[in-house]
Amino acid sequence: MALYPLIRPLLFRLPPERAHALTFAAVGLLGPLPGFLRLEQALYRFDHPALHVRVWGRELSNPVGLAAGLDKDGALIEPLLALGFGLVETGTVTPRPQPGNPQPRLFRLPEDRALVNRMGFNNRGVLHLVQRLRRPRRMAGLVGANLGKQRETPLDAADVDYMSCLHAVYPVADYVVVNLSSPNTPGLRSLQAHAALEPLIRELAGQRRKLAETHGRQVPLLVKVAPDLSEAELDAIVQAALDYGVDGLVATNTTVRREGLLSPLARESGGLSGRPLRPLALAAVARLHRVSEGRLPIVGVGGIFSADDAYGFIRAGATLVQLYTGLVYEGPGLVLRIKRGLVRLLARDGFRSVAEAVGTAP
Ligand SMILES: Cc1cc2nc3c(=O)[nH]c(=O)nc-3n(C[C@H](O)[C@H](O)[C@H](O)COP(=O)(O)O)c2cc1C
Repeated sequence: MALYPLIRPLLFRLPPERAHALTFAAVGLLGPLPGFLRLEQALYRFDHPALHVRVWGRELSNPVGLAAGLDKDGALIEPLLALGFGLVETGTVTPRPQPGNPQPRLFRLPEDRALVNRMGFNNRGVLHLVQRLRRPRRMAGLVGANLGKQRETPLDAADVDYMSCLHAVYPVADYVVVNLSSPNTPGLRSLQAHAALEPLIRELAGQRRKLAETHGRQVPLLVKVAPDLSEAELDAIVQAALDYGVDGLVATNTTVRREGLLSPLARESGGLSGRPLRPLALAAVARLHRVSEGRLPIVGVGGIFSADDAYGFIRAGATLVQLYTGLVYEGPGLVLRIKRGLVRLLARDGFRSVAEAVGTAP
């Protein structure tokens, strides 16, 4: 029963942020009703042994995740997990609440199957997210927390923001992502340059070691990178990640490039996601996998709209994949379609599991 083709034209008639708020409000109301999650699960459940993934000492039912930014404040974790995601990434959150950029700040580019956003880390602050993450959950799946810096924090003090957020979420997050790649916080992406990155990663990894001792659990620490980095910059990130024991990389965030777009809104400033991002993100994943020689689990994200796309990322070197824009265009059934399709593609090529297929692209 595919409802989304009927609902999408209605949602697409609204300004994008209004459509997002309306969907969140509706699911927020329905979510707590008895039986809602079970109904959702019944509609979207699909489990298959070939999809099971073991990563960071955890067992996931499948490698398909929700990318950061959709549920920044962790408002709908359970209903999102019930769509069948193996992982859901909350955030980006900052130490204190902040409103983000003035609206409009989110644009649909339907001709390109893309979005442009310049949200600017609108969020209710890390402590609010911590409260959400503390709530007991019935749904399985990893829930990550993606961390950023406050807009007004100077770049040379960004480490203080990341450290305070890391402290706050450490006891309640299944994994943590340090977001150095949003184009909508001025200067943030410069933290990916080696001179800034190396001390930041060293400090965060050192702090994580202490937190692991205090809390008796090792929470995986990942870094999220931009698709607009040179190969040399990507290589330096891999080196720093391996040197300091970072557990994985998320590749990629949105791009500031705009080549070959059809939509009249293409010139809006911000980060571009969706179809046009896919080749850039895929190339970054392949590079990171090759240079790290498979020693760093990579979360592939950027323009995944189908099982073929997800499979392409896995074969390029991603252990897990995530999506955001695909969900807007294809609807919530996309997660189920990707999982079914992945099982078929793995079997076609003689792989017994996702793990066997990781990084096998020629
Ligand atoms: C509206 C919007 C808001 C986003 N906010 C965040 C964010 O807060 N933090 C982050 O790391 N990525 C954020 N992203 C980037 C996504 O997590 C993802 O990396 C990117 O959109 C590429 O995936 P996609 O093509 O499947 O959307 C955002 C993307 C969109 C479209």
